[in-house]
Amino acid sequence: MSSNTKGIILAGGAGTRLHPMTKIMSKQLLPIYDRPMIYYPLSNLINCGIKEILIITTPEDQNSFIKLIGNGEQFDVKVEYEIQDKPEGIAQALIIAEHWLEGKNSILILGDNLFFGKNLQEVVLKAIEDNKGATIFAYQVNDPERFGVINFIGDKVDSIVEKPIEPKSNWVATGMYIFNEEASDLTKKLKKSDRDEYEITELNNIYLQNDKLNAVLLDDSFYWLDTGTPDSLLEASNRIKNLKDSNIIEDGELIK
Ligand code: G1P
Repeated sequence: MSSNTKGIILAGGAGTRLHPMTKIMSKQLLPIYDRPMIYYPLSNLINCGIKEILIITTPEDQNSFIKLIGNGEQFDVKVEYEIQDKPEGIAQALIIAEHWLEGKNSILILGDNLFFGKNLQEVVLKAIEDNKGATIFAYQVNDPERFGVINFIGDKVDSIVEKPIEPKSNWVATGMYIFNEEASDLTKKLKKSDRDEYEITELNNIYLQNDKLNAVLLDDSFYWLDTGTPDSLLEASNRIKNLKDSNIIEDGELIK
């Protein structure tokens, strides 16, 4: 049930690919069409009935997020904040959040990931209910080598490989994950990768080896938008305007 699940938004990172915009401002505060980027993942969590949310930011940007979102009471949720000193990987969020989680399950979403879809909320709530350890949400893309790529044997996940040179499929792990209470402890066992990060892909592979990983495939009735580069940022704004103009996204789905 979502009431046993706390939400984490990771909004750290240097956003180097978006310099100079992100030299003085967090990437996740940049506008996507008519809202700051973080409003989109925050809306996803709120729409799923998640009431307790932790926003993890860089030390420099924390005050700006607090100014924007505060304690969350205007959205009828409780928002708290933590700091990631250095961008040492997505999985580190689960260590930073350990005490705050108080042994509860979590849904972790990256502050720069945008998800839409008519029954997204239903799909996520079902995934929370079905979660046996960890759950990833997979999506098909044209450039899988940029992401964690899912290798399948038949319809079973065989492994997830972070940014492979030769991807074996075009299904990738998006930046939304559900974890049970083991996640923080398991993350502590990870070693840093070649890019000096605690990789979420490695954590998910541990769950997979323990036969506790679910993969939910999001077909093309869903939209997963990337915002990492100036082009994808512009594209995301345009896509959202189009989705709103054609009523695929209702304004009320998003917090204001
Ligand atoms: C991270 C993960 C990758 C995932 C992606 C989704 O990549 O490591 O597995 O597919 O987020 O956005 P990064 O943003 O660190 O390159």
